[in-house]
Amino acid sequence: MNMPAHAAVANARHDNPAVPIRHMDFGFNDAPLKPYFYDDNAFASAFFMAFSAVIPQGERFFIESVRHYRKRIKNAELDARVTGFIGQEAMHGKEHDAVNEVYTRMGYPVRKLDRFTRDGLRFLAKRLPKAAQLSTTVALEHYTAIISEYVLGSQEVQDGFDKPVGNFVLWHMMEETEHKAVAYDVYEKVIGSYALRAGTMIPTTVILIAALASMQAVLMASDGSLFNPRLLRQHAKGFGMIYGPRGLFGKVAPKLLDYFRPGFHPNDHDTRELLARFSEKFFGEQGELQTNLRKTVMPQVRQVA
Ligand SMILES: [Fe+2]
Ligand SMILES: [Fe+2]
Repeated sequence: MNMPAHAAVANARHDNPAVPIRHMDFGFNDAPLKPYFYDDNAFASAFFMAFSAVIPQGERFFIESVRHYRKRIKNAELDARVTGFIGQEAMHGKEHDAVNEVYTRMGYPVRKLDRFTRDGLRFLAKRLPKAAQLSTTVALEHYTAIISEYVLGSQEVQDGFDKPVGNFVLWHMMEETEHKAVAYDVYEKVIGSYALRAGTMIPTTVILIAALASMQAVLMASDGSLFNPRLLRQHAKGFGMIYGPRGLFGKVAPKLLDYFRPGFHPNDHDTRELLARFSEKFFGEQGELQTNLRKTVMPQVRQVA
């Protein structure tokens, strides 16, 4: 019997996937990487490199903003998902640090961008009230969730990545999808203000896009591709892939706007089938990332005080 659409959405909302902590090692320290690892395109590759540059510090900010409220959650199931969230984000930070180190050795100023991000987030952590820090995390987790859903669902976008970097990015996106509702559920439990949640998304979007675009320009300037007239057509193609109406940001725009709906929940975008597919592809018996997996820790649901 077919389930009515509204019933399927209601089920998805309460069907939170487990959030296992997978200890991964992609071995980036010894791996040669191509500078233009996305579609041999300088513009698009620099965008993903800029993204990688902000991730280790960004993940720390996310972890701290959620951890601050942990004691007030008082829900054993959500507490276990918070453990998974913290573990997954810490692992993403560690592996992005390793890949950023490789890009630094290739001559890209990724370390400088990492320090710039660290200083900016420390400033925010000192000035912003804790509730606004958590709502910033919720807003950015929505970005990672909808970008991940789009990329995991598009073979064409996945085909653009060079293999080692591609599987690494897709592993991160798969785990972002697994834990996409954790920060949101903590926020709803301890704060719950719609005005703060929706209001934070606007400055967060402006700062995120300005930061990524300027870091991308710095990276492109550093290898001479930014003003290279022979690359103009390539840049135009890359611009379309990332910022164009049929590119990354254009495609996620409707799901971005859905965030402003009162009563929105991340699980309203049903990603269960996508998750099942990628868990099997990467961590099934013949999984492509089995050799990179050191161990898996499944957070236990414990009674919380
Ligand atoms: Fe992450
Ligand atoms: Fe995340």
